[in-house]
Amino acid sequence: MEPTTKLLEPTPFIYVCCQQGVESVVKAEIARQHPGLSFAFSRPGFVTFKLGPDAQLPLKFSLASTFARTSGWSVGRADGDDGAELVKQIIASPAAAACNHIHVWQRDRAAPGQRNFEPGETALAKAVGQQIAAADIFKGRDVQLNRAARTDDLVLDVAIVEPNQWWFGFHYVSTVAGRWPGGVPFFDTEVEVASRAYFKLREALLWAGIAIQKGDICAEIGSAPGGACQFLLESGATVIGVDPAEMEPEILKHEDFTHIRRRGNEVKKKDLKDVKWLFADLNATPTYTLDAITEIVTSQHVDVTGMILTLKMTDMKMAEEVTAIRDRVKKLGFNVVKTRQLSFNRGEFCLAAVKDKFALRAARKRT
Ligand SMILES: C[S@@+](CC[C@H](N)C(=O)[O-])C[C@H]1O[C@@H](n2cnc3c(N)ncnc32)[C@H](O)[C@@H]1O
Repeated sequence: MEPTTKLLEPTPFIYVCCQQGVESVVKAEIARQHPGLSFAFSRPGFVTFKLGPDAQLPLKFSLASTFARTSGWSVGRADGDDGAELVKQIIASPAAAACNHIHVWQRDRAAPGQRNFEPGETALAKAVGQQIAAADIFKGRDVQLNRAARTDDLVLDVAIVEPNQWWFGFHYVSTVAGRWPGGVPFFDTEVEVASRAYFKLREALLWAGIAIQKGDICAEIGSAPGGACQFLLESGATVIGVDPAEMEPEILKHEDFTHIRRRGNEVKKKDLKDVKWLFADLNATPTYTLDAITEIVTSQHVDVTGMILTLKMTDMKMAEEVTAIRDRVKKLGFNVVKTRQLSFNRGEFCLAAVKDKFALRAARKRT
């Protein structure tokens, strides 16, 4: 069958994937930001909502949510132990006839970092994906399985909520994370890194649209043991790590790395005068982190282009403060401020801020 170029119709439901444990936070955010949606179904890491008569969600929607990792139109669910039967139901959907990408992923089995769990493709998702992609309906068509899609691409989504319960739907790509299956970037997590912060920062930069260039001067407050600095050094940056704790010897001896072995508030601002990108990843409250970076970015000696902060969720109630936190950072002169709980965040979320949106465009063009 030839793929149709006609746009699909929205359905009465949407699905949202998130980290395990933040479902209630997602529900509260959606209730605040999208009052036309009402909660319908939930499993750890997977929530659906029904559109009420007043819901206004464009076909190519993206949710105003920090904690939704990915979302799309929900078409239905296929239940049972016979995979071939489940595939039949999925390929009967209009999205299967029209899509140019298939994304298949499994709901998280734990919170990131817990019980050795890291988000990413599972063996089951891979096998199910291959089974779906082998269906006749995709023969002779250029349909990619579990690859990065591009803006406006139509993606057939299959979320394996239980091994015998596959939810399916679709989305048109309108965000960076919407390009990745289940909103998780493709990283080889087997590589040797100084800490998980390596993946966290890599994902943050991709999501924020910030491309570190060779020679960019970067500073990280809370840099030990050094995963984030490792990624920045690999990107060709000159890196200043500020942390009273010890850095990994490999990072420490890198010729483009300087360790300032102090707390963020003890560092001489002149030492940060040429810093373009500022990072903070402290095991401290968000207020502490925000106070520390405020002191730096309001100094007359410092003029950063942008920053990425990791903010700890001291408790789930913190989620209600996200808007106030973004506003606080905007008042510091950052015109673009966004927040997201990254796939690789662990009991925390990420804030990205740039003073001028053209910093992002320029960075993107060069990649
Ligand atoms: C989550 S770890 C940082 C991980 C690091 N970004 C990496 O890439 O490996 C938190 C760090 O914050 C540091 N820290 C806590 N309070 C600090 C402060 N006031 N100034 C600088 N570092 C601080 C701790 O010593 C600890 O090494």
